[in-house]
Amino acid sequence: MKVNGVDYRTIWLAEDGWAVEIIDQTKLPHAFETHRLETVEAAAVAIGDMLVRGAPLIGATAAYAMALAMRSDAADDNIPRAHDLLLATRPTAVNLRWALAEMTALLNPLPPQQRSAAAYVRAAEICDQDAAMCHAIGEHGAALIEAVAARGTGGPVNILTHCNAGWLATVDWGTALAPIYVAHDRGVDLHVWVDETRPRNQGASLTAWELASHGVPHTLIADNAGGHLMQHGMVDLCITGSDRTTAAGDVCNKIGTYLKALAAKDCGVPFHVALPISTIDWSMGDGLKEIPIEQRDENEVLEISGRDAAGEVHTVRIAPENCRAANYAFDVTPARLVSGLITERGRCEASRQGLLDLYPEQR
Ligand code: MRU
Repeated sequence: MKVNGVDYRTIWLAEDGWAVEIIDQTKLPHAFETHRLETVEAAAVAIGDMLVRGAPLIGATAAYAMALAMRSDAADDNIPRAHDLLLATRPTAVNLRWALAEMTALLNPLPPQQRSAAAYVRAAEICDQDAAMCHAIGEHGAALIEAVAARGTGGPVNILTHCNAGWLATVDWGTALAPIYVAHDRGVDLHVWVDETRPRNQGASLTAWELASHGVPHTLIADNAGGHLMQHGMVDLCITGSDRTTAAGDVCNKIGTYLKALAAKDCGVPFHVALPISTIDWSMGDGLKEIPIEQRDENEVLEISGRDAAGEVHTVRIAPENCRAANYAFDVTPARLVSGLITERGRCEASRQGLLDLYPEQR
């Protein structure tokens, strides 16, 4: 996607051909800064501290991080060391485990002198595949938006989204936002309700920035506003991303997604989830019981950052001095609350059968 007229992906190789460049997402929307990664350790910090985030991008970064690890030391024991370091950074997004499994399966059988080059090639393929899959998700999901527009109820199609599942969360295009970009580019009149997504405000700082950069009409709302909007007919459909979707169609995504799905069910608003195959955990059935939910530092809840009138970014405390906070980063929306899944292969019911119909090789 374009930033100030320049084409960007979220991750790319530096001009020297070996270091990895990323967009430092902790600086958005106030500054657009890129950041250079030279070691697997630096990549692990970038994932853990959320300079890069979003399930597909976490996986892509881990793939390049394995290449950085092999460039510095391609010995047998450095493969599990790098793998374990990266896997420990964020527990919920299964794309991380998927990308690391791809890389270790490739690297283990190779002689050490071939590992670095092969790792760079595979990491680049993973990035290209992710961008292509997200574009395909956009094509399949745009049909949902176009169908609402075709009903001709007057006014734009109103779509609610949670967190950031746009191009910043992937290598390019995004998952939940890809259908929105495709439909918008085809001229569909649409408007996006953007949940701010406390505590880290990925909606306010990333989704709103992305949509504005692409010229997509949108309005930022407090997280708790979605139910009210749905009750009053102001949302035509919800589309979110996912960090891990089980083989039975249970969807784990940013904390607060479940409450939006509950409200959508009560109000008869379709609730769709967009995801690539790398987000499906075929080994899991019951998402509520089995998906590990990341708990992050309490300061993400106790504090908030923003820019003052002079343009300086500050972090301020919003709770009493001795207050403690719980910071669950994700929740699970049971399949029964999900109207449908949008994948790179098309749309399906959020169920084991629905997924197997799209991915028969997983039977
Ligand atoms: O904690 P984050 O910012 O990594 O969480 C991101 C999300 O929850 C996204 O909705 C999800 O990764 C889907 S991304 C295409």
